[in-house]
Amino acid sequence: MCEAMAFYDRVEECIREVRADLNARPPGFLRELIAGVRVAQKVGLRSSIRHATIVLLIRLHNRLFDHPQHAQIPLSEGARSGLIGLHLLGGEREVQDALPCASIPSKTFHWALSAFSIDPRRYHFVDIGAGWGYALLLAASYPFRQVTGIEFAEELHAKASVNLDWAKAAGRIKTPHAQVRCESALQAELPQGPSLLFLFHPFREPVLRAFVEHVEESLRKHPRPVVVLYANPADRHVFDREGVIELKSRGVASWLLRLFSPVAIRAYAFTRPPPALTD
Ligand SMILES: C[S@@+](CC[C@H](N)C(=O)[O-])C[C@H]1O[C@@H](n2cnc3c(N)ncnc32)[C@H](O)[C@@H]1O
Repeated sequence: MCEAMAFYDRVEECIREVRADLNARPPGFLRELIAGVRVAQKVGLRSSIRHATIVLLIRLHNRLFDHPQHAQIPLSEGARSGLIGLHLLGGEREVQDALPCASIPSKTFHWALSAFSIDPRRYHFVDIGAGWGYALLLAASYPFRQVTGIEFAEELHAKASVNLDWAKAAGRIKTPHAQVRCESALQAELPQGPSLLFLFHPFREPVLRAFVEHVEESLRKHPRPVVVLYANPADRHVFDREGVIELKSRGVASWLLRLFSPVAIRAYAFTRPPPALTD
């Protein structure tokens, strides 16, 4: 299922185009059948089957694992919600390049921590683009040194804050410190200790590139271990740079991720502070 979601988004775009062409004719099942054939003609049969598998996995994960958890959280927004009409902090570029809020499938999250051998006691976990706080709550159930959610949509931040208070009151938190901050990713001050930065494809490439430079700037001031977990790594080439290595996933969890996760996930380590910038 490698790079599953980036591929999924491309096929979904094609399906939207085909549906728009058909313009609601003919009605019902026949229209869906014709749309299916046209999509298969455009993207190929193998891609259509792969897309159908991802749709199935998304629905299975949601039905079996995530929907029951979302239902317990007071202000859950479910698996996907848009940003239209929300108050977004940050510059014009960050607003333009922001992607809608989707919550990480919980199994993908747990498998990734295991597959990349993350020792939570070592890191401050930071969710860059925390949405209404699902990944944050999942992370807070591990003994990370600290857990912080950074979200630039005021309304989502407010929901994440309520959800975190609920989780604390319900005794679901294993980390000693958990907080949410309403900030934009490019303006957020990053922790000065060893950090695990979690990104579930929150923004498009230009902002991702600027964010990675923001991390490098912070590493120049405070050299320390920094690992990035990048879910739905559509713009992973941004991490092809000096001083960054890709981590290999290992063990049973690695296979579970490859075979059964609806969302691909990659991990990168910043191996040394980047050289100082010269004018
Ligand atoms: C795909 S959602 C991920 C939600 C959460 N990490 C999870 O997995 O449950 C991405 C979030 O990133 C936020 N976002 C996008 N651009 C941002 C930026 N520049 N600064 C902070 N948050 C941003 C969006 O508002 C959205 O809530």
